[in-house]
Amino acid sequence: MVPKVSSKTTSGKRKRSEKDSYGNGNSVRDLPKSNASQHNLIFAAWLVQKYGQGYLRDGGVIDVAGGLGLLSFELSVRYGVNSTVIDPRIVPLKGLLRRKMKNLHKNRSNGTQDQDRSALMTFLHRNGLKVKDDGILLESVSKSINDDTKEVLPFNSIQATFSIASEEEHVSALLRNSSLLVGMHSDQATESIVDEALRHKKPFAVVPCCVFPSMFPGRYITSDEDHEGKKQKPVISYDDFVQYLESKHDKIRKENLCFFGRNVVLYMTAEDCE
Ligand SMILES: C[S@@+](CC[C@H](N)C(=O)[O-])C[C@H]1O[C@@H](n2cnc3c(N)ncnc32)[C@H](O)[C@@H]1O
Repeated sequence: MVPKVSSKTTSGKRKRSEKDSYGNGNSVRDLPKSNASQHNLIFAAWLVQKYGQGYLRDGGVIDVAGGLGLLSFELSVRYGVNSTVIDPRIVPLKGLLRRKMKNLHKNRSNGTQDQDRSALMTFLHRNGLKVKDDGILLESVSKSINDDTKEVLPFNSIQATFSIASEEEHVSALLRNSSLLVGMHSDQATESIVDEALRHKKPFAVVPCCVFPSMFPGRYITSDEDHEGKKQKPVISYDDFVQYLESKHDKIRKENLCFFGRNVVLYMTAEDCE
């Protein structure tokens, strides 16, 4: 992974000038290419920095709506944190990721620094994410590396829809024992992650993306203006959705991750949940 500069947004519709910033005042020159793999790479580093590797390893992470498992890959392979994807989509590990996992492991074992890794670390450090590799190799990662069938994943995967899945006993147990619930651009699952985390008094970190106003017509936020005689307005835009989620608990915090596009992370730490 060589962090490259891109002038496109995630949608690819609007070109940005080099003076644009992503919310922390950094210029576009500092940013890697904006795509799902970069988002997850940056989110994983942020999670490790914010919560600590030891804390995350204790109970592991639940990666709700994890899709192809890009975040769980980063957490398990790069940081030795057990992670479980819950998503109705099946997760096949792409050949590219499998090669990346093997290379990373080979370089670690040889004590060599690959270019890919040092470019990544330089980028993360420049953006305040001082994560380091402590060389932990999870058993699941080791099994995946040595698997000739190419079917064994380095992380766990449950093929299910989150809100329904959480009623199942094994998922409830996973929720109770996990260290953290996360969702990167978790679509329809985003609100359920926050609700379930609050219900179980669990720390969480979500990066909201799509709003789906017609699928969730019952969401409202308080507003200064009158809407049909009320001081409440329906949640329609991305900003409305962020405000709506944030208003669920007074300890919910907000930061911007260092990538372009929908980069707001809403989160609570273990102390916030006490
Ligand atoms: C935009 S993708 C993001 C995937 C991944 N987090 C990433 O950043 O690459 C949204 C994902 O949400 C999943 N999803 C939507 N609703 C869900 C639900 N209720 N429970 C679990 N996953 C869900 C979809 O299957 C899809 O994989």
